[in-house]
Amino acid sequence: MNILILGSGGREHSIAWAVKQNPKCDHLICAPGNAGMAEVATCMPLDILDGAAVVAFCRTHKIDFCIIGPEAPLAAGVADALRAADILTFGPSAAAARLEASKAFTKEICDACGAPTAAYAHFTDADAAKTYITEQGAPIVVKADGLAAGKGVIVAMTVSEALAAVDDMFDGSFGEAGAEVVIEEFMEGEEASFFILSDGTSILPIGTAQDHKRAYDGDEGPNTGGMGAYSPAPVLTAALQQKAIDEIIQPTIDEMAIRGTPYEGVLYAGFMIKDGQPRLVEYNARFGDPECQVIMMRLGAQALDALLACAEQRLEKARLNWADDHALTVVLAAKGYPGEYQKNTEIKGLDTIEQTSKSHVFHAGTAQSGDAILATGGRVLNVTARGDTLQQARDNAYAMIKDIDWPEGFHRKDIGWRAL
Ligand code: AMP
Ligand code: GLY
Repeated sequence: MNILILGSGGREHSIAWAVKQNPKCDHLICAPGNAGMAEVATCMPLDILDGAAVVAFCRTHKIDFCIIGPEAPLAAGVADALRAADILTFGPSAAAARLEASKAFTKEICDACGAPTAAYAHFTDADAAKTYITEQGAPIVVKADGLAAGKGVIVAMTVSEALAAVDDMFDGSFGEAGAEVVIEEFMEGEEASFFILSDGTSILPIGTAQDHKRAYDGDEGPNTGGMGAYSPAPVLTAALQQKAIDEIIQPTIDEMAIRGTPYEGVLYAGFMIKDGQPRLVEYNARFGDPECQVIMMRLGAQALDALLACAEQRLEKARLNWADDHALTVVLAAKGYPGEYQKNTEIKGLDTIEQTSKSHVFHAGTAQSGDAILATGGRVLNVTARGDTLQQARDNAYAMIKDIDWPEGFHRKDIGWRAL
């Protein structure tokens, strides 16, 4: 079949890498893609936020299956446009993707289905929000309601910090996303992510992971999109996964179906776990980045079968073969990220790295210029490896990094420390 993947990050490169290994994939196109994806797919320009343009592209290129990677096209209704045109699609409708696009909506769904989550209140007015914060005290969490590229959450340790966050949000520093805020109880515990495919009715868990959000070693420094990840997450034991499915995931899927907006795609659930009880922190309507890279490394070619079963509403009978293995990814970022950084610096040595089904360098922000690979983003490479143990996966990943010659980049040296 002819397959189209929308996106240009490390997440989409890892999906492309897994999909391409499956004999069902005849031709793979990535739009817009990046220098790494060009090794496994044809990369072509396309406005992936424009549903009509994506449909026209699929017709021109005889696409049988379209996989949507990032959240922006989902929120823009690209999956709706594709399904309306009878094109087989992986990714939820705009209505279902509100589980990511609106924190207030997610809270409403949790209330309706009884899913454990932090207590909260929802405000469209700064004064009312501030009064509530003063009553509740700190620590407390202030969230911009809409999509804010991971920057709309302030975990405030003091009341004054929380009040300042409310001012910032209503002053427009988060754009549209700040016009409404959700204020939440601060939850203690250990965080882990759970990835579940849903076809609207049935679900198929496809792995657990933990990421490192802070920029520097020892979980210090500014928050980022994620500096590394590993799978599985030891804290999410089989018993806790079942509890999370019974109390949070399946009730959410059922509630979405009851509302006439069935959830079809991958549901990325972030949990806070304390005393054997998972509570929902957030949902995302897409794979995590870089969590996807470790999940794809573990799934390999069967990832395509699972995504197809999801899109064709056959998850009830779908099964995965799990090796009892571990995967770990280290993000190489441009020095300065998540702040200002230099662009178009050259990365050397990538061609000397042996890449196998157990080790791969996924590209997150690169472009090819002549023979050179240039860094074009903040997070640039995801050096990913598999092993029988987490330690082995980690050793394999760090061994690959030694061969990468990129003085303008940096990475954390301690990915996986919590689990090891
Ligand atoms: P979110 O975008 O909702 O995932 O929030 C980003 C990060 O903020 C999460 O990964 C948590 O580390 C933290 N966070 C969000 N909500 C809470 C909460 N209610 N209590 C404690 N930490 C939170
Ligand atoms: N690594 C966190 C995310 O993708 O949102």
